Amino acid sequence: MIRNKVVLITGASGEMGHSLIQRLSEAGNSSIITIDLQPLDPGVRDRVTKEFTGSILEDHLLQRILAEFEIDTIFHLAALLSTRSEFTPITAHQVNVEGTLKLLNFAQAQGESHARPVTFIYPSSIAAYGMKSVEFKNRVGAVKEHEWNMPTTMYGCNKLYCEHLGRYFTENFKQLAAEKLSGKVDFRAIRFPGLISAETVPSGGTSDYAPEMIHAAAKTEPYACFVKPQTRIPFMAMPDAVEAILRLAAAPREDLTQTVYNITAFNPSAAEVHDLVLKGFPDAQITYEPDVKRLEIVESWPADVDDSAARADWAFAPKYDLESAFSDYLIPRIRERYRD
Ligand code: SER
Repeated sequence: MIRNKVVLITGASGEMGHSLIQRLSEAGNSSIITIDLQPLDPGVRDRVTKEFTGSILEDHLLQRILAEFEIDTIFHLAALLSTRSEFTPITAHQVNVEGTLKLLNFAQAQGESHARPVTFIYPSSIAAYGMKSVEFKNRVGAVKEHEWNMPTTMYGCNKLYCEHLGRYFTENFKQLAAEKLSGKVDFRAIRFPGLISAETVPSGGTSDYAPEMIHAAAKTEPYACFVKPQTRIPFMAMPDAVEAILRLAAAPREDLTQTVYNITAFNPSAAEVHDLVLKGFPDAQITYEPDVKRLEIVESWPADVDDSAARADWAFAPKYDLESAFSDYLIPRIRERYRD
């Protein structure tokens, strides 16, 4: 008999959390425990075994989970995104860094209590990079994981540091496992590009201009884009992001040559996104009103990332390219969503 896996998702009410709950519950072999400040949407609530409403910073919540469940895998999605973190940097640090440290410590305690490693999946971000100028980022193109790790935002600093914390816990795990075969933390991180979902609009991020542009067009609302037409960063469609997270979680540890992996699917300029939006929604009213601070953040992110390690180590392969993300996923699903 296959033992039912117990999966913990923090930040479960966010964009990625909803899609992840759907995918895990469709696969059917996981019990899902969630934590979020916000209650889950009614559409996904009945797919989870237990929902905790509260903050990852509340020790008693993690203690209760530790006492009640044997967690195999943690998807630690809870975070304040990049724009929001610039408004409240100290809170961002508390949630993004102290929260992650608590979860890593929780994973370690779980691993110790049931003597096998807990897989810890961490969504990092292109915000971990800091390119020195727009001209430079456009010239160097796709960057590798170890290059240009000079984040300019609190969020980016938090993500980069937590990648190192995770590696610290994992290297600790490898040594101890060799000595006494007891499990600790098996940390794996993906540096996500901007994500675009047909189901939800993100909040507090700086790559939000692309999804906002598409959703506004579908709602026949005018949209003032906060970056320039030529601004370029990598993106991917949400189903590919969720597939990637599941694939990395399932990969045999011995196949992984690094703890942090870039992934990407396409890297359009804002004007190229705009053109595709117009194909699907010819009446879209999109203008450009760059916001100095948010533009500066996006301009510090790479124009492209090199994801060859993810492709080689765990067969990362996005289904959607730019054209098909629009024609086969975003336009039909978003049109359906706002019908009437
Ligand atoms: N998409 C995120 C943001 O814009 C970065 O990971 O904050």
